[in-house]
Amino acid sequence: MKAEGYNAVSIYFDWGYHSPAPGVYDFTGVRDMDAVLDMAAQVGLYVIARPGPYINAEVTGGGFPGWLTTQTGKARTAATDYLAAADQWLTQIDQILRRHQLTNGTGTVILEQLENELSNTGSSEQAYMQHLASKVRADGISVPLFSNDKGRNGFWVPPSSTVPGTVAGPTDLYAFDGYPGGTCHTNGTPGSPSVAPDWGLYGTGGAKGGASASPQTPGFAAEFGGGWFDYWGSVGTYACMAVREGPGYEREFYDTNIANGLTLQNVYMTVGGTSWGWLPAPVVYTSYDYGAAFDESRQPRAKASTMKELGYFLRSVTPVSEMDKGSTVTASATNIKVYHNIDPATGTALYVAMHNPSNATTDDDVTFPIDTPDGNYTVPLTINGQDAKLMVANYDMDGQHLVYSTSEIMTHLARADGDLALLHGRPGETGQTVLRYASRPTVTVLSGAATSTWNATTGDLRLDYTHSGLTELRISGGGRRPLELLLADDATADTFWQLDTAAGPVLVRGPEMLRTATAHGPVLALTGDSITGDSLEVWPPARTRVVLWNGTPMPTRPTPAGSLSARHDLPAPAPVTLPALANWKYSAESPEADPSFADSSWAVADKTSTNSTTKPPAGQPVLTADDYGFHTGDVWYRGHYVVTGTAADTIGLTYGGGGAGMFQVWLDGQYLGQNVLPTGVSAPPTTGTATFTIPVDLRTAGPHEISVMVRDDSHNEDGGVNDAQKEGRGLISVATNAAGIPVDEGISWRIQGNQGGEQITDPVRGAMNNGGLYGERSGWSLPNYPDANWRRTTLPASTAIAGTSWYRTTFTLDVPRSDDASLGVTIGDPSTPRSAANYRALIFVNGWNMGQYIANVGPQHTFVIPNGVLDPHGRNTLAIAVTSDGGPGNGLEPVSLTNLATVRGGVPVTLDNSPGYRPPTIRFTGRNSGTLATVSVPPDARGTELRATIDWGHGVTTTEPLDASLTVTGAQPGRRPQSITIIDAVNGTILARRSA
Ligand code: GAL
Repeated sequence: MKAEGYNAVSIYFDWGYHSPAPGVYDFTGVRDMDAVLDMAAQVGLYVIARPGPYINAEVTGGGFPGWLTTQTGKARTAATDYLAAADQWLTQIDQILRRHQLTNGTGTVILEQLENELSNTGSSEQAYMQHLASKVRADGISVPLFSNDKGRNGFWVPPSSTVPGTVAGPTDLYAFDGYPGGTCHTNGTPGSPSVAPDWGLYGTGGAKGGASASPQTPGFAAEFGGGWFDYWGSVGTYACMAVREGPGYEREFYDTNIANGLTLQNVYMTVGGTSWGWLPAPVVYTSYDYGAAFDESRQPRAKASTMKELGYFLRSVTPVSEMDKGSTVTASATNIKVYHNIDPATGTALYVAMHNPSNATTDDDVTFPIDTPDGNYTVPLTINGQDAKLMVANYDMDGQHLVYSTSEIMTHLARADGDLALLHGRPGETGQTVLRYASRPTVTVLSGAATSTWNATTGDLRLDYTHSGLTELRISGGGRRPLELLLADDATADTFWQLDTAAGPVLVRGPEMLRTATAHGPVLALTGDSITGDSLEVWPPARTRVVLWNGTPMPTRPTPAGSLSARHDLPAPAPVTLPALANWKYSAESPEADPSFADSSWAVADKTSTNSTTKPPAGQPVLTADDYGFHTGDVWYRGHYVVTGTAADTIGLTYGGGGAGMFQVWLDGQYLGQNVLPTGVSAPPTTGTATFTIPVDLRTAGPHEISVMVRDDSHNEDGGVNDAQKEGRGLISVATNAAGIPVDEGISWRIQGNQGGEQITDPVRGAMNNGGLYGERSGWSLPNYPDANWRRTTLPASTAIAGTSWYRTTFTLDVPRSDDASLGVTIGDPSTPRSAANYRALIFVNGWNMGQYIANVGPQHTFVIPNGVLDPHGRNTLAIAVTSDGGPGNGLEPVSLTNLATVRGGVPVTLDNSPGYRPPTIRFTGRNSGTLATVSVPPDARGTELRATIDWGHGVTTTEPLDASLTVTGAQPGRRPQSITIIDAVNGTILARRSA
């Protein structure tokens, strides 16, 4: 981001990501937010901190932890239990943010946001906001506070605003959000552009006019669209969003914001991400690529280069941040508008030209007047469809005076022996730049073509040229410092990078990315990324004699343009060879469907009250998973009932599953079927009911066992301030038909979700990593799980069992150490959004839940796996949990590794320190009587079907069930066990064996 011209990063902090249980907070490992804020400071980015407590952000519960769903009080109000919980979180996160505040000189945090899009403004919400502000201040936060007004309502303005219709809040700044760019069509095409709105100086004004709600504070868009998220069952719109809100959109909309005086603009999102594990909210799938400037695999898109042009412009032409409206400017054609702003201190003028209305798509040539203290000019301009231009006039540019330019300024810098300016324009378009001198200067064209005209009366030197590649001019004399003027087309301009060093600014041309620049006396050390054919040219600080690129000296020669040019190209990445995924091991699971499955360790689900918004009918127990401490992923239920009279012939189950959630049901071990919530809409239903016919042979008197597995695709967000996150997950209620006996009132239930519930057994991977599948509860997802005696198999699989089965393999990567490769796992055919196969898969890489693939829903096939989770130089474990309805063809499709991009360079990545499978431990005491041996099972390997087989020698073996631990005592005096073997009885896997 820093390299691409951003000066700040806005970061949400997700409460639920850090808090698996009330009072429990984790900021270690991948959740280390101190490290994130240190990084921002190191690279020189300001931080806009947005810790909620509510964030939305398409994450489960909108950032609320799972445990908060069981509270009585309404969230986002002054309810006592909610405030106490919110305080808990703020105490934790503020303690970290406080250490990084710019106001303390100890970091780059410049602002903190209270809440997010709180659009209820009643007395309880007002008290809540006041409470948050007092809390944050009491926590030592001294940076200005703001909130993010959902849309532009004039909510939560600072006390300085007296605009009628606004709602005051405990804020220092007013901020709002907006997504006016529109989304792609459902068929994945961009459609026609939207009109860029005026939400500041040129708008309608008043409480609902955007920045006008708070005239005394800077115009602040806390979120402004930089893409959009995508939903289960779409055709996959991220690539389209990157075009729809691509370079043309960015120029038109963000330039309009600049014209409107919005001096704080946060683009949501800039870095496309991944909602790993159970983090995504029901409205989105694993990928949160967003069509953002940086795609999910960390690669800058074309739109990142436009942001770089804009970022560099704003960084160099500083008067832009202080401007007021100037006089009205009328272009020669009515379909073009020109915003005109002036900085009162310097008199510098900004002209922002685009179509009127801005969504017109014609290409037009016009002229418009520039009237400045330097004189009156009429200048030519081309405005293409979906484009806008930023032009500057009457500007003191280092030691030069720019009368005007129809090119855009990318950057300018004062160097030891003169000035340098880089201007750019659309390829093939003409440009005109006028500079002022006391006497006629000498113009030397070093490369490309340009003509100059000298006006002795005004002192104007006019340069005319075409933007094509790079034209380099040297202008000297005329009573000013020499100027190196670089005139580029956009694509060429985008190959330039600028960073500051202690010895002054450095401009670099050529590499894919310039990450750092450090000057040590005569040595300029650069780091960055390159691909095949990247050159290197450097305008270094004065004393530079040696240029290092990623630590290696680059031989250079001086050029007439004052730069050092490398004598050979930057190194290209070495080819990356990815192994085919083979040697698959297979095991079925879902033993819970078997009537004889031992569920005595499971929680009894017999609560009679719940704070969920989906309460069971009178007489039925509360079944919703959150009430039993299971907040993420899959949940199993086993219900026992006894038929004494007429048996029911149907059973209906109501459940909450989130987006694309589902359940599967078995009766007495017989698979009855599954139900999947409808998808293919942006706000999918998150609960459902399905009724199954009870097979005739199971309509018998006597005991019955019903087993249900519910896939909970996370909690709703609470965007509507209506406690939507409290909608039940898992089973909600049961109904049988009137003809049958009311088994719904007679079922005794047990429930099992993720191992440990709120006391998560894998704190390294955290609360969002695991649900309650048998394999997850037994460590099947982890590296080093002893799958040696699992069945060998190959992919694709032609079918699968009804229920869940697992595929495991390992692969060794040998990505060249000099390369930064971004890799992914691909399932099925990525050229089509979905396949016909009716199954879904959870993808675990080295034990980390990297996302969910739903074959017949789609659209995502490729799952980005970040380095650090992935070992690019070693052995990795891939485990895939396939949940299928068991029909023909509904088995796991081909699985492969995908190289999403490789560059030479990157940044060093350390592997996350996450545990592999830890087998049960067996200890022999060496005694002859009493305790002979002990067995203990680590919490994350505690399957419910473990057995310890004790071989006493002389042909005698005994087998005992094993949960957490077992003490083997001397049954026959004088005889000691010879060996102990621990197996998983579900598939016979030998987990541990030890001889005395
Ligand atoms: C905003 C919200 C963000 C995110 C965004 C859409 O309204 O503040 O958190 O949800 O919409 O991606």
